[in-house]
Amino acid sequence: MIRSLRDSQPALDERRRDAPTGGTTVVWALRSPCNLRCRYCYFGTLDETTEVVLQPGALSHVGRTDASLKACLAFIKTMTPHLVNRVFLAGGEPLMWPGIEPVIDALKASGVQVVVCTNGQPLADTRLAAALIDSGVEAICVSLDSHDADYNDQWRVDRGGRGWAGVVEGIKTIVARRNGEAASTKIGIYMVVSRENIAHIIPTAHFVAGLGVDYFIIQPVSLEPAHQLHSTLSLTVEHYEALGEAISALTSAGLSMCLPNEVYLRLMLRTLSDEPLPIIRECFGGRDLFFIQPDGSVWDCPSIYKIRQTRSEQYESIVGKSASRVFSRRRRARNTDCSCFSQDCVNMWQLMAFDEIIVR
Ligand SMILES: C[S@@+](CC[C@H](N)C(=O)[O-])C[C@H]1O[C@@H](n2cnc3c(N)ncnc32)[C@H](O)[C@@H]1O
Ligand code: SF4
Ligand code: SF4
Repeated sequence: MIRSLRDSQPALDERRRDAPTGGTTVVWALRSPCNLRCRYCYFGTLDETTEVVLQPGALSHVGRTDASLKACLAFIKTMTPHLVNRVFLAGGEPLMWPGIEPVIDALKASGVQVVVCTNGQPLADTRLAAALIDSGVEAICVSLDSHDADYNDQWRVDRGGRGWAGVVEGIKTIVARRNGEAASTKIGIYMVVSRENIAHIIPTAHFVAGLGVDYFIIQPVSLEPAHQLHSTLSLTVEHYEALGEAISALTSAGLSMCLPNEVYLRLMLRTLSDEPLPIIRECFGGRDLFFIQPDGSVWDCPSIYKIRQTRSEQYESIVGKSASRVFSRRRRARNTDCSCFSQDCVNMWQLMAFDEIIVR
């Protein structure tokens, strides 16, 4: 159990700090729809959410409230690197959306670094792969949960039938294009780790190294206790030793890829302990990191626990607003001490260490 921050520090909202000076990092879940149906997805599964009336902050693959391309482009036009340094474009599946190319071009024109997070299948389209490399995006993260196609496809469900093979084809296509152009774009893999695939970490790392990628990141599956897969997949204190051993083996495997950040790995293991989780003082969430949802709403970070704690007057929208307003110095100077640290946000520490991957 996390100690209540409110109990110990009743006047938190009144305390302010100096605003950070550099541009912020933004995780932008650009679109809701997706061609896959991953069973653990943060966005839920369509069957569960189709009839649901969406509450602010709730994610779903239904795209009816997604911000328009026009609204996204108008917002991007107001960005400068001083306001926004780096944007991670995710979703849903961002590369399925025809608006992705104008969005990337606009971000690059505003001087913003771009990292594209994709399920990988769209990368098999040689035209799209060429456009992405030519656009000069800094990095492309591809999700793959195992070297074992059956394991991957059991959880990352593709009703279209391509599944793991389609992702691997996408990785090969984008790596070949990048190499052919001698482009600087880094290409890497994000593997969701559950209690079912800890033993896959090392073989998966070797497999993707063989595909010629530049980095390999693991992230713990995050499922709320009420999720139907929580007791099947979630990592607990019982998995601490096995995950710790896999991490040691990974970091000493001598692979020529960038591996997860050390502080991040330590914190990931910390989330498996049965000790109370720490309060994070001056967290980057809300200062150096923001999360934009497909409907354009802006939150301190993607954690569902943090989002639930956020009152309606505390979040902004990009629609009709400028970056200088949404990421104002005043907003970024708020007190960001946070009691919501969990497996649902620990991967933000890796994201905030992305210079280790891009600046090499
Ligand atoms: C929501 S997806 C969006 C981008 C793209 N569709 C993809 O799958 O890479 C971003 C990342 O979150 C991961 N992810 C989704 N649901 C998750 C969960 N419940 N716990 C941990 N990671 C999750 C995905 O595997 C992916 O690496
Ligand atoms: S591909 Fe990404 S967005 Fe789509 S269901 Fe899987 S994790 Fe969710
Ligand atoms: S939920 Fe996690 S990442 Fe978000 S503000 Fe809190 S501690 Fe930071």
